[in-house]
Amino acid sequence: MIENPGERLRSLALRMERQLETPLAEQRRQNEKHLVFGAGDPAAEVVFVGEAPGRREAESGEPFVGAAGKLLEALLSEIGLERGAVYITNVVKDRPPGNRRPRVGEIESYKPYLIRQLDIIQPEIIVPLGLVASKVVLEMFAAGPGSHTMGALHGHIFECDAAWGEIRILPMYHPAASFYGSLSKADLQEDFKVLQDILGGV
Ligand code: URA
Repeated sequence: MIENPGERLRSLALRMERQLETPLAEQRRQNEKHLVFGAGDPAAEVVFVGEAPGRREAESGEPFVGAAGKLLEALLSEIGLERGAVYITNVVKDRPPGNRRPRVGEIESYKPYLIRQLDIIQPEIIVPLGLVASKVVLEMFAAGPGSHTMGALHGHIFECDAAWGEIRILPMYHPAASFYGSLSKADLQEDFKVLQDILGGV
């Protein structure tokens, strides 16, 4: 029996929940927190990939439900997209302690699950949010330059081949960057405008 993408994603999430090989899985269990696998349309045209869940996400099991998530939703809605019409996930699917950056070994051990997830959804556009996710996604599809800064990558379209066909990768600033740095909401809106233009032509 061929399962639909929603069922395949659900069984992948269940498998992930049960295994304890990924480095942050044991602390998730001990702290009675949730795996943050991903949410949205299992056959979405667009997949957003963040870095790692924060406290609110680990408590609810849903990606991007805190302040960065509210901003992401607002930016989506401004270009006519509902949160449920896209798929949202993270490179690392458990919260690193104290919200620290995920370590290289952690990223590596969660990466096969992201690859599997994308392989099931088969999106036409992948939007990595921030430098960690952008590097992972660009390297995954052998696209883009070796040395990256978000300033150089954001808003640029990288065309590449995935196992399921041609895809476009559109790195964007992480929405949380507008809370701490010199970035404004208008900077984020510019990148979303690029996404809107591509979608107009998909
Ligand atoms: N930041 C991320 O990168 N991912 C989340 O799920 C929440 C905040």
